[in-house]
Amino acid sequence: MRNVVTIGCTITREKQMEQHYQKRWPEGAIVYHIYPRSLQDSDGDGIGDIPGIISRLDHIGSLGAEAIWLSPFYPSPMADFGYDVADYCGIHPIFGTMEDFDRLMAECGRRGIKVMIDLVPNHTSDEHAWFRQSRTSRNNDYSNWYIWRDAHETSPTGNPLPPNNWRDALTGGSAWQWDEGRGQFYLHSFDVKQPDLNWSNPAVRSAIKQAMRFWLDKGVDGFRVDAVYWMAKEPLLSDDSPNPSYVEGEDLRYDAVLHNNSRGWPAVYAYLSEMADVLKEEKYQDKLRFMVTEAYPDTHNPLAAYLAFYVGVDPEVAAPFNFEGVTLPWEAGSWRRFLRSFHHALEQFSPLCVPSYAFGNHDQPRLIDRLRSVGAARSAAVMLLTLPGMSFIYYGEEIGMRNVDIPPEYVQDPAAKGDPLRSIGRDPERTPMQWTAGKHSGFSDGDSTWLPLAPDYDQNNVEAQADDPKSFLTLYRRLGQLRITSPALRSGSMTIVDTASANVVGYIREHGSEAYLVLVNFCGEDATCRMNVTLRKLLVSSELETLLAADLGEEIVLRPHEAVVFAIDPQSRT
Ligand code: GLC
Repeated sequence: MRNVVTIGCTITREKQMEQHYQKRWPEGAIVYHIYPRSLQDSDGDGIGDIPGIISRLDHIGSLGAEAIWLSPFYPSPMADFGYDVADYCGIHPIFGTMEDFDRLMAECGRRGIKVMIDLVPNHTSDEHAWFRQSRTSRNNDYSNWYIWRDAHETSPTGNPLPPNNWRDALTGGSAWQWDEGRGQFYLHSFDVKQPDLNWSNPAVRSAIKQAMRFWLDKGVDGFRVDAVYWMAKEPLLSDDSPNPSYVEGEDLRYDAVLHNNSRGWPAVYAYLSEMADVLKEEKYQDKLRFMVTEAYPDTHNPLAAYLAFYVGVDPEVAAPFNFEGVTLPWEAGSWRRFLRSFHHALEQFSPLCVPSYAFGNHDQPRLIDRLRSVGAARSAAVMLLTLPGMSFIYYGEEIGMRNVDIPPEYVQDPAAKGDPLRSIGRDPERTPMQWTAGKHSGFSDGDSTWLPLAPDYDQNNVEAQADDPKSFLTLYRRLGQLRITSPALRSGSMTIVDTASANVVGYIREHGSEAYLVLVNFCGEDATCRMNVTLRKLLVSSELETLLAADLGEEIVLRPHEAVVFAIDPQSRT
């Protein structure tokens, strides 16, 4: 063990790194994203819950995860499966009790796992007490907490017509709902049961910040902040512009208009900064509390969209999700260009910027289905877990779960129900976790499960993969263990290097005397690279039949879709 000398005392290098990570834990952390309904059921109702999550923390730890993010567990009528919050400071009984949550915090604490929870600031449920009150009249304490407008005009048949052409993001229908009681429309950017809060009202901002403090007082380490672009609309609520490239019957109805006025106005950075300030309040200085914001860039310049968040909301405590792993084509040229410009831009702006890569989540098809290749999904895992910053693993990806066909009678997702073009909706990627070959795959011992299990669960599950060197799970665990023990992978520099192959992206992660070379072959054919580095050892390959194990010569021949991690000599780069 090497020692470093500091003024007045000698501490181990490991200890020093440890202290650094404790302070800036998002740097290099693997975050395991839990969809609470689907991880583990403990009481036989077929729906996952918090005690179930506690019972699976060791599995999560075995992936090298240092944090979890929980999708919403709040009281909710479940119109959008918890993203319609009826009480920001409670727990839905199907998920357990506040005591269960406290126990989760304690059990995570014991294992050194940080806890991030979902915060949904743009909208509440229509069953939230604030909305119930708001809709009673135009003149009450909560009347201005939501976005209410008079009808634009009345149709010839006497029906009130909505104030503008905005559409809801789930079904693509009008984002306005007529409320008989108030004789006005309210805005719902998502489901009709998710009325938008009025963020220009300081009382709303203050109430959400109070909800944050409730959970920070409980010790949570941060928030994943939902749907932030919608928090700030064009102040006059002007029409969105028509989308010139929209093809009716082919594109989502939502995209018939560009969303240039209904979301993404600059006030969003001011609102998020107010929230970030809560994380920095003196009371919460005991440890770093951090938030990751959900905003899919919808410009032709995603880099600028990401940077706007780093520049606009203090990067000491906040970072936007990087969704390129979801949106960018799986193609070497695009990735090389993006990685080069993104990491360069962050370094240039501030060393505090934490990249925050998610290659999947509860709104996106599973990786294997999106990339249409098992090999590509395996190499995506290598990339995700060797990139700088936070790396989010969506539950089930670690065993290569696939989208599950949902028979029409089981469809749950409001997005699938509302728009015929979204007929597969988001249920296929939300199915129960596959643990064993036993009843309901060990997910539940109830009579049924809230969504059907994958038909291949008896073959494809955690138990079956645990000791299989060829499995997804073995690959994820290997990468996770490598990452948590490696300062270079956690917080080392990131340099994109030339590989001499158009189809292979290469980068070096380096810290002190430790350096790794990562190579990702994006195509379905062999690729030959020539690198100006001295290879020490092959540490990981996404392919078991790699050609590389024996020979570390000048030419590196990668198999189709193979991704590898080499230890290299840090002195060797020129
Ligand atoms: C986010 C969530 C999604 C939800 C929507 C509305 O995009 O990830 O599941 O439907 O916000 O809250």
